[in-house]
Amino acid sequence: MRRLPLRSLRGQLTAGLVVLLALACLAVGVTTSLALRGFLMGRLDQQLSASGGRFAASLEHETEPDADNSADTRGQAEATFGARLLDGTVTQAAVVDDATDRPLQLTPEDRHTLAGIPVGGGGYSIRLSALGKYYRVTAVRGDDQDTLITGLPLHPVEETVHRLEAVEAVLFGAALMATGIAGAVWVRISLRPLQKVTARAAEVARLPLASGEIAMPGPLSDTDPRTEVGQVATALNHMLGHVEDALTRRQASEERLRHFAADASHELRTPVANIRGHAELALRHHSPVPAEVRHALERIDSESVRMTRLVDDLLLLARLDAGRPIEHEPVDLTLLILNATDDARAAGPGHHWLLDLPEEPVTVTGDAHRLQQAIGNLLANARTHTPTGTDVTITLTKERTTVLVDVSDNGPGIPEELQPEVFGRFVRADHARSRSTGSTGLGLAIVHAVIAAHGGTATVTSRPGHTTFRLVLPG
Ligand SMILES: Nc1ncnc2c1ncn2[C@@H]1O[C@H](COP(=O)(O)OP(=O)(O)OP(=O)(O)O)[C@@H](O)[C@H]1O
Ligand SMILES: [Mg+2]
Repeated sequence: MRRLPLRSLRGQLTAGLVVLLALACLAVGVTTSLALRGFLMGRLDQQLSASGGRFAASLEHETEPDADNSADTRGQAEATFGARLLDGTVTQAAVVDDATDRPLQLTPEDRHTLAGIPVGGGGYSIRLSALGKYYRVTAVRGDDQDTLITGLPLHPVEETVHRLEAVEAVLFGAALMATGIAGAVWVRISLRPLQKVTARAAEVARLPLASGEIAMPGPLSDTDPRTEVGQVATALNHMLGHVEDALTRRQASEERLRHFAADASHELRTPVANIRGHAELALRHHSPVPAEVRHALERIDSESVRMTRLVDDLLLLARLDAGRPIEHEPVDLTLLILNATDDARAAGPGHHWLLDLPEEPVTVTGDAHRLQQAIGNLLANARTHTPTGTDVTITLTKERTTVLVDVSDNGPGIPEELQPEVFGRFVRADHARSRSTGSTGLGLAIVHAVIAAHGGTATVTSRPGHTTFRLVLPG
């Protein structure tokens, strides 16, 4: 059996059971001991009063001249004590030893104790130093106005009581142990349905409820409303039902939103392409147009280019969100990086583009076009968000099960408050400037979505003078 932690409900119930039983055993033990002692004392007192001071009466006073020192020990139990007192002074004391009487040398305290025993007042327990034991004694008035004290040793009573206590201790100990074991098993069995409830709650807690379609586990079956566990299970079932409802509705609304974003971007493509086409057509017109009109047409053209990109980015994100499957083909990442760097070099000749590639070509499985786009976005960022003359290093590393792509630059870095959300949508450091430079804040969101679709991760570390974007792809 597994160890029972005392803090658990199981441990506490079992411990409570054992403690209660131990208290009951203690009460029974104390009561029976007291009752037995009382009973045995009563019997001892009866014996003493039946003897009626016969032994003590047969003792001769030390002062009597014809004392032959032999008392009447017939019918007296072994270790019976007898003493005669005259005017409060002990004159003779003896104990039955081997069926004869043996005179006793009493100590002054013994004499004092004996003198203090009230006459005819039932049994008293005293200790006599001369005998070294506790005695039960009674005192009666003798025929010649003396006091006759008879005593019987108490130790047989004590022994009997102790024997009972020992038997009880063994019995109660065994009962407690048996109750502990049986109680632990019983509590465990009774609480088993609770474990199911706990396991189900833990199972639900582990589910990624924040997003996506969630398959909720079925309801619990132990729902007897007469038991507390059944009530908890019913409440949990209700709660899971509500959570499932809410999740289904959330999933449906997310789906609708995704479809809307995908449809909207798709629908926008044609009119944007038309605007661009018409602007280009008008610009190519031979007849002279006023400079302002030409400028306006050029603005329409450049803005429609930007809008085309924006719409394409939105459409791509909507498709990746919808979990559209990507291509699964071998991609030569080395070649892809070489091409992307060539493009970046052409677009940003003022930057220093450095490559650190392994000897052997590195391939991954995935969508070449999307990966090119992701790496292109990182290089575009390293170019557009850093001043001319910045060093940009692209490092490709093949590890045992993964492939790492690091794009580092020694530019100004990403503001610290922006770093946690830099892969979010429309996240930019400088909105005002971004608008003029044509950046939308979707570049890194696309990087993140593309790498996630490949089963990898995208992370960033940045401080002034050192920014590194790392892509980890399954290799
Ligand atoms: N290498 C970098 N150095 C400094 N800041 C960067 C770097 N890369 C990204 N950033 C910051 O992160 C923000 C988000 O980048 P992201 O690529 O998502 O958007 P963008 O470049 O502004 O627009 P888009 O890429 O859509 O044209 C940027 O606006 C910029 O502030
Ligand atoms: Mg960008």
